[in-house]
This record gives sequence, structure tokens and C-alpha cells, in this order.
Amino acid sequence: MTHETVIKIDRVSKEFDLGLSKYQALREVSVEIEATDFAIIYGPSGCGKSTLLNTMTGLEEPTAGSVNVRGTNLYSLSENERSQFRAAKFGIVFQQPLWVKAFDLIHNVALPLLLNGANEQKAIQKAAEALEEVDLLKFSKHKPAEMSGGQQQKAGLARALIHNPWILVADEPTGNLDTHSADEVMGLLNKLNKYHRRTIVMVTHNLAYLPMASKKIAMRDGTTAENALDVNKLIRNEYQTVLGKEAK
Ligand SMILES: Nc1ncnc2c1ncn2[C@@H]1O[C@H](COP(=O)(O)OP(=O)(O)O)[C@@H](O)[C@H]1O
Ligand SMILES: [Mg+2]
Repeated sequence: MTHETVIKIDRVSKEFDLGLSKYQALREVSVEIEATDFAIIYGPSGCGKSTLLNTMTGLEEPTAGSVNVRGTNLYSLSENERSQFRAAKFGIVFQQPLWVKAFDLIHNVALPLLLNGANEQKAIQKAAEALEEVDLLKFSKHKPAEMSGGQQQKAGLARALIHNPWILVADEPTGNLDTHSADEVMGLLNKLNKYHRRTIVMVTHNLAYLPMASKKIAMRDGTTAENALDVNKLIRNEYQTVLGKEAK
């Protein structure tokens, strides 16, 4: 098996300027993601997961360090080049997909191609293939708002994959879903990685999904944690606090 590095994050730090003070959200984080990876970044709220993900896609310029995506140094590009690079090479999903309410599902999924000036018939054909990949072709003519949260998130994955990006990036994609829908979305992500050979980088709070990951990136306090067990404990304590139980 060859190890093809797709993303190389080298000693990335990120400091937010809060005016009166500075906040160090990332401290010298180094991570490598390979083409075959289903990478899961996990850790308690506020530990820097989203910030790290955003540095990978070019959305958040690090204060120090470098991000390399298949040989392109992201932050040596101009802002304009970088956003074109992001649009072409990444498929991105968040907790909840945003839809154009007036469009049916297939046009929504085709939208990234249509906005790029693709021929409508071809774009719709591609959208149909993408919807087939996530098993939602039968909803083509429906409005996204008519579908369940889980179905919408799967359709969001189809839209993110429509231009065949190098890397699929998902920030807490199951954060808004009930357990059953969340499991379905995770099953789909697993299938996309294993059978459709998609490189996936995902952020989650949910430790139950860790066994699916080929690479587990534990974080705490803005850095990758040496001791993953500590991170698990922190997350469990956070859950117990949320549930109103006494943290053990
Ligand atoms: N734009 C910003 N300005 C100032 N602080 C920020 C900004 N974005 C994130 N932070 C802070 O950086 C820390 C990490 O945030 P984030 O990466 O969103 O955490 P996570 O995704 O792990 O919950 C948090 O303390 C957050 O408040
Ligand atoms: Mg976050």
C-alpha cells in the first residue's frame, strides 16, 4: 500500500486578536492526512477542532506554520487563488446544509456546477449520479425542506461531492441529528471512504464513531493530545455536565 499524503499540516499555530488580548487557538499542530484516510478530529468544545479544519481548507490563515495540500502551499496563494482552490479541491459540509428554498433537490445538488457555468443538462445528470450515490435519487423533485434532517445531511454530502473533490471535510455533520439519522450519515461517510475511495476529514464530539476512523486526532487546548485517554475523559465529563449528572 502506498502512502500518499494529501494534507500536510506543519507546526500550525493560530492566534486570534481579541483587541485587548490574544487567544491562542492552535499551538504548533502537525498532522498528515493520507488519501485513503477517514480522519476524525475529536476533543472537547473550544479545543480548536473547527479552527484546525478551517486552516486545512484555506478559510483560516495560520499565524505560523504551513498547510500543504498535494504539494500546494495553501497560504502562499493569493486569497482569490485560495478560494478557487478550496472550491475545486474540497467538498465541505457543516452541521446543517444550506439550501436554495425555491429549488428542488436535484437543482440544489447541481448548483455548484451550475454556478461554475456547466451545461444544465450535464449538471443535472451529475447531480442524479451523486444522489444515486447517497441513495436519494427518489427525492430529486422534492424541496429539501420536505426531507428529514438526516436525508438533508446526506443530500448535503452529495452536493459536496458533485465536483469530485480531492477531500471531503465535515465539521460535526451529525451534530444536529437524532441518533438514528446520525448513524445513517456515519454509515454513508464510511461507505464513501471505503467503497468510493473518498478522503474524509471529520470533526466530531461523539466518541462512538472513533472505531470508524483510520486516523484519530485527539485535541485539547489547541494542540493534538499525546494522551487520547485524557481527551476521552474530558469529553465524557462535558457530556455528564450537559446531562446534569455529576462528572466522574
Ligand atoms: N474568530 C475568532 N475570534 C476569536 N476567537 C475565536 C475565533 N474562532 C474561534 N475562537 C476561539 O478559539 C477556540 C477554539 O475554537 P474552535 O476551533 O471553534 O473550537 P471547537 O471547534 O473545538 O469547539 C475557542 O476558544 C474559540 O472561542
Ligand atoms: Mg467546532
